[in-house]
Order: sequence, then structure tokens, then C-alpha cells
Amino acid sequence: MGIDDICTVSYTEETGLVILDQTKLPNEEVYVRLETKESVWDAIRKLMVRGAPAIGVCAGYGLAVSMERDDSRDTETFRRHVRETAAYLNSSRPTAVNLSWALERLCSRLDRYLQNPSENAGGSAGAAEEMRAEEKTAEGMRNAGAGTFCPDISGAKRVLFDEAEKIRREDEAACRKMGEFGLTLLKPGMGILTHCNAGTLATAKYGTCLSPIYVGQERGYDFRVFADETRPLLQGARLTSWELMKAGVDVTLICDNMANQVMKNGWIDAVVVGCDRMAANGDGANKIGTSGVAVLAKEYGIPFYMFVPTSTIDLETKTGEDIVIEQRDGEEIGSMWYQRPMAPAGVKKYNPAFDVTPSRYITAVVTEKGIIRPPYEENLRKIMEDEL
Ligand code: MRU
Repeated sequence: MGIDDICTVSYTEETGLVILDQTKLPNEEVYVRLETKESVWDAIRKLMVRGAPAIGVCAGYGLAVSMERDDSRDTETFRRHVRETAAYLNSSRPTAVNLSWALERLCSRLDRYLQNPSENAGGSAGAAEEMRAEEKTAEGMRNAGAGTFCPDISGAKRVLFDEAEKIRREDEAACRKMGEFGLTLLKPGMGILTHCNAGTLATAKYGTCLSPIYVGQERGYDFRVFADETRPLLQGARLTSWELMKAGVDVTLICDNMANQVMKNGWIDAVVVGCDRMAANGDGANKIGTSGVAVLAKEYGIPFYMFVPTSTIDLETKTGEDIVIEQRDGEEIGSMWYQRPMAPAGVKKYNPAFDVTPSRYITAVVTEKGIIRPPYEENLRKIMEDEL
């Protein structure tokens, strides 16, 4: 479908962990191999890989890859090193909850494996078989006589990869489902405004809020998409318009300050956006500028849909007030991506990377488990507990 050849984050034993360097788009398609924890941290920090779900997928593999060469001699030391590396990777960016969520998933999976290796060795029968073969390793031998599984470090390294791969597969499936659910909110020929990039480049595949556009494209919906350029790092211009054009979707790029005008012109029937962290009350942090678009949409009576996989819902965070907003270097707004300065040297700058859209502006939240409407506090809890 045009996005099939975009590989945001991938891992195989042969290639290792490879990401598409998004800082180079749309001019160059450069794939980069990440082999150390420092390179993974840097890639996330510099937005070479970005978008909440993709950050989670990359962090999962990044932790597994970083631990591959760890030379701990016992599983307790290995477990400590994994936790330390996870804490380090988690410090790369603060707002997207998928980062800590994915790292915690790997750490907990490792804990379960160490406690009960026979049930937590791998996702497939094959992995479990391999695991049995590994019993011949030094630590594994100790319990061999007793006929029980004994955790060992090579098995522990394998479960990290196994969990990272699970996260990637689940994300792709979740995005596809959000596409199907999201499409039920849209009609053929609609004009749709989006902000930032919550497409295939922000996920394992399909995207969150761009997924219904791709699914609709397969079914001849002929949407007209308006992409906010998304200052200062231009995710809308560089990434959203690039991937939508690749898929043959009708896309028009606008500057952020034109959203009001296209709504006033009557060109927009729905707004779709992604999310970096949704608090328990339904307030959602997303790329800076999202909340302004939500306020405009309300003024014009246009539905505003936030696409939020359950991996992005953080019930531990009570409201949007409690979400940590990343502050980035002011230089990002003072010069255009390593080119000529656009502002006088030394001017004061304020550069929050995200803002919070209060839940009252969100018409519906689309998850991979279904669509939620207010009251969000109650319905988010229910969807997380599989009660809806
Ligand atoms: O700073 P970025 O590019 O990582 O910000 C990305 C966004 O705000 C996306 O809209 C969000 O992560 C949702 S991605 C499916």
C-alpha cells in the first residue's frame, strides 16, 4: 500500500536493530543500525526514531540489544544490569509513556523468567525447545539431574528479544485495529486535519490516527487530508505528507497557523491526532499545538478524535497537569534543522515539545479495544480492565 516498504524499526539476527533515521526525511532515506545503549538513547533523544509507539518498540529492542554483550556471570547481576540499562534508556525522553511501559515490560518478563523459566522462556514452542537445549550451559546443568528448568543468562537474553518482538507485533496489530475502529467514525470523501505525525513512522506499522486513512485508502474512501506542518521540527511537513504521498493519499500541507482558515473554509469534517500519554481522566498529551487545534475544532463543531493505543494510557497519572512535558533546546525554534538562523542570535526562546488537550475537547478516544466516549475516567478504567 505504499507504506509497506517503510521500516520504522526492525530487528533480525542478521541485521540487528535498524531504524529509519527520521531526521533525514524527506530528502534522504537512511537506515541506521543501533548497537549500543548510547546509540539507542541518542536516536530517541534526537528524534531519529520518534512517535510514542515507535519509541516503545525501539526501546524494547534497544534494551535487548544493549544486554546482548553483557558479561554478567550470574542471573542476579544480569537482572541488575538490565534494570540499570532500562533506567538509562528511560531518561532519553519524558513524555511518551510507551518508553517506560515497554522497558518495564521487558524487565517484568525477565523477572518472571528468572522465577519460573519453564513457563516464561519464549513466545513460541521453538523458543522453549531451544531453551531446553540451553540447559547444557553451566548454570543450566546444575538442575539437570533434578529434571527442572534452571534460568541461565543466555535464556534471559533471549526472553528480552522475545518480549521486544511481542511488543512490535502487538503494536502493528493494535494500529490496524485502530484503523478499523477509526474508519467507522469517518465517511468517504471527508476532509481530515491531522497534526504532527502519528502514522507508520510513529509506530510499528499503519500509525494510530493515520491508520483509518490507510484502511480507508484500501477501500476507496478518497479522503482529503490536511497536514499541519507542526513547528518547530516539522513532523507534519517532513513525515506525514511524505508517508501519505507514498501511499497515494490526497494530502495538502498547511502551516500551523492556517488550521483556523481551512476549518472556516468548511474543508475539515474531522480532526484525527495521536497521543503520547493519556491520563486517567482522559486529558491527552500530544505534540505542541494539538490543544489549539482541539479548541478550534470545538468552535467549528468539528469532531476531534484522539487515537490512543492502550500502551499509551497511563492510569497512574491522574490528570494532564501531572504529565511531564519535555522542554527541548530553544535552538530548534531559532534555526531550521541545522540550516541558517531564523531569529536574532541570543533571543529568548520557549520550546515545549508537547501540550495537553483537556478531555472536554476530545469527542472520542480510539483504542485497539474499541472507541471510548465520555465519561473518560470511568470508561478508560473499564477498557483497561477489559470491562467494555
Ligand atoms: O516529538 P515526537 O515527534 O516524538 O512527537 C510525536 C507525537 O506527538 C505523536 O503525535 C504522538 O507520539 C503519537 S504517535 C502515534
